[in-house]
Amino acid sequence: ILIRIRDREGKLHEVDASTDMNMNLMEVVRSYELAPEGTIGICGGIAMCASCQCYICSDHPLPEKTEDEEAMLSEAFYVNDKSRLGCQIRITEDLHGLEVELAPEGA
Ligand code: FES
Repeated sequence: ILIRIRDREGKLHEVDASTDMNMNLMEVVRSYELAPEGTIGICGGIAMCASCQCYICSDHPLPEKTEDEEAMLSEAFYVNDKSRLGCQIRITEDLHGLEVELAPEGA
């Protein structure tokens, strides 16, 4: 599926994300190296660091936040009502055309 990702410098990238590799959004960002190594996915994708925080800019049906995600976002920086943890969003067909923006480093 196609995903549009705005990196931390404001540059927009259109990437092709596979739905049959059980990937999440944080892993897609890492696989295209859209954020420097060591600044995203620090906890390995278990909702414990917020380095994968992103802002959802389109109106796609996303999975509900888990308690762990809510808890982490309540402690993170730069959070707003579009904030999600990328590692908690699995890439599925219905996310085709998703638009996201990476939160600043240190979130
Ligand atoms: Fe740590 Fe997503 S990678 S919360």
